[in-house]
Amino acid sequence: MAKRCLSPEHNLSDQTRISLLDNRLANQIAAGEVVERPASVVKELLENSIDAGASRIEVDVERGGARLIRITDNGRGIHKDDMGLALTRHATSKISKTEDLGCIQTLGFRGEALASISAVSRLTLTSRTRDSELAWQASAQGRDMAVDIQPAAASPGTRIEVADLFFNTPARQKFLRTEKTEFNHIEEVFKRQALANFSIAFMLKHNHKIAKRVPACAEPAQYLKRIATICGQQFVDSAIEFKCQHEVVKISGWLGKPSFHRSESDIQYVFINGRPVKDKTLNHAVRQAYEGLLPPGRMATYIIYLNVDASQVDVNVHPTKHEVRFSEQRLVHDLLAKSVSDALSEQVEFVEAIYPESSAISVQEGVDELSAVETSESSLTARRQSRHALYQTPKDGGNLETFDYIKSVINTTSHLNDRSSKVSQPSVSEPTQKMVTGGARHSDEAGATPVAKTTAVNDSDLVPLTGDYYLLRLENECFFADAIRLLRYFISNLLEGDLIAKNRALLFPQSIELSQSLLEDAQTHDLLVKLGFEVQPADAEQIQIRKIPSWLAPFGNQLIFDCLAEWLITGSQNNDALVEAIINQLTECGPLPEATLGVLSGVAGNKLHLDKLTSRGAMRAVTSQNMSTIFNMDK
Ligand SMILES: Nc1ncnc2c1ncn2[C@@H]1O[C@H](COP(=O)(O)OP(=O)(O)O)[C@@H](O)[C@H]1O
Ligand SMILES: [Mg+2]
Repeated sequence: MAKRCLSPEHNLSDQTRISLLDNRLANQIAAGEVVERPASVVKELLENSIDAGASRIEVDVERGGARLIRITDNGRGIHKDDMGLALTRHATSKISKTEDLGCIQTLGFRGEALASISAVSRLTLTSRTRDSELAWQASAQGRDMAVDIQPAAASPGTRIEVADLFFNTPARQKFLRTEKTEFNHIEEVFKRQALANFSIAFMLKHNHKIAKRVPACAEPAQYLKRIATICGQQFVDSAIEFKCQHEVVKISGWLGKPSFHRSESDIQYVFINGRPVKDKTLNHAVRQAYEGLLPPGRMATYIIYLNVDASQVDVNVHPTKHEVRFSEQRLVHDLLAKSVSDALSEQVEFVEAIYPESSAISVQEGVDELSAVETSESSLTARRQSRHALYQTPKDGGNLETFDYIKSVINTTSHLNDRSSKVSQPSVSEPTQKMVTGGARHSDEAGATPVAKTTAVNDSDLVPLTGDYYLLRLENECFFADAIRLLRYFISNLLEGDLIAKNRALLFPQSIELSQSLLEDAQTHDLLVKLGFEVQPADAEQIQIRKIPSWLAPFGNQLIFDCLAEWLITGSQNNDALVEAIINQLTECGPLPEATLGVLSGVAGNKLHLDKLTSRGAMRAVTSQNMSTIFNMDK
């Protein structure tokens, strides 16, 4: 076999001797790793232009890139004396010592691309630095790839022309697909870079026609326009922008709502420090966050940017640099899954608890579902803003805003000690207010003086303090609230049937396995309904969940489905144990999600519950007395 492939000048005795490969052959072998098809050339050349600080890059291809690929940029150019080195393997301006490998800031660093591409095509490099009057043109010739340099005319920047790719490597040429397929791959590479570099203007031409053109984005407001050009207006219309900062990684981007799913994974982009990657771990994290929200076999859509310290990520894993390795792989995976999951769950409709048989009076009455959701989103935003404002203050000396706020409330409440004087005036005119409804049958139980049926709770009146503690303003009264105790109270009331949880339908009902004994237990069904689920038997060992409680939804379906069987086993023994089991599991994943807090503050805002919550230590009125205790503590 080996014998048949040998060239005629080889004889058998040559096989046992070692000789140095000529430059071209060595480069062609190296090209095998990085230059798989025309799109790989475009990828390498785009990376070089971006590394050169270009603000405008034009990509021109003919016949799917097999005939010609020309990339022109206005970057810093290459010095005449370096033109030869640029085409030489293992020559780079991007790293110079071993330590640099641990902290790579550029897209390229291997010093291989130009040499490899030039070994398998007819490559011409034309470049002019800004301080040079002349441009220079270089190409590598012959088996030793000697570089010939000639003066040329060109604007500052670099132009690289790659003609007749694989003309001298027929084995590779055979693998080229149709012009359309090859161009699609090029377009994909182009899109990735366009999404990673908003400040650069890009243009892509195929057979002299413009295929894509995106101007430079001077400010973030223009990003969506570019995203629409690259990913389509439908994605933009469905996109949820998200941003979060963790200790090791900053994550941001746009997530397609679960309702915008696709048959292909063609709108799934992940970037690490501006480098497009196809990383299995990161993709898994995103898939996990979307789990249960998409129909079977359908794909989520997203553009996600991760920023980590360059020393925490190794890009030298694969020659194409598509895969990366993090020093804290698991942590980054989990943070990404949580960030995406949180951003998606903030989109669930805003939820509240209702009372059985209540004579609900609501300022929202008559609004259609859509505007109700919009209201809930705007109130969520308002609450987020108030939280944001709170976090802005520390450099001015701690949570001053909170204290000012508390003081202002104390001033107001001191004039308003008669609670009954204000409950009858819910401020119905404010559109962002949500009504928490109260039923008359509970007034006896609450042992309260006659109260109005409803109390308005403005969502923006829930101010985070520290840990699980919040400041809750109810009309003119102000309370410190312990979110965990509120939750405990809420779940107990659900289990006792004093509250009914609202629920929402799953887009795709989910089946979960339960043991035969649990399935047959009537109490199981009762518990599920009380918690707010709607279920029906699926088969001998499964139940199908059709609706999930709105207060639990923000925790993500996966957590709920994972825990449900355990909760049911606990709950069949004892209600109190079930309450604790649920709280333990929910608080294990971090702070309570805002939508759930909204439900709790709604319950707390009801006059019927206020007294009970206060007596159980879940709420404490902010009074002049306990404030002076706080402020006089150090005196
Ligand atoms: N478009 C360009 N603008 C300026 N310099 C370039 C450009 N393309 C390549 N170079 C120079 O040529 C060198 C070799 O490029 P390449 O073979 O792609 O290796 P690498 O990018 O890994 O350094 C680069 O280090 C850079 O100095
Ligand atoms: Mg390069």
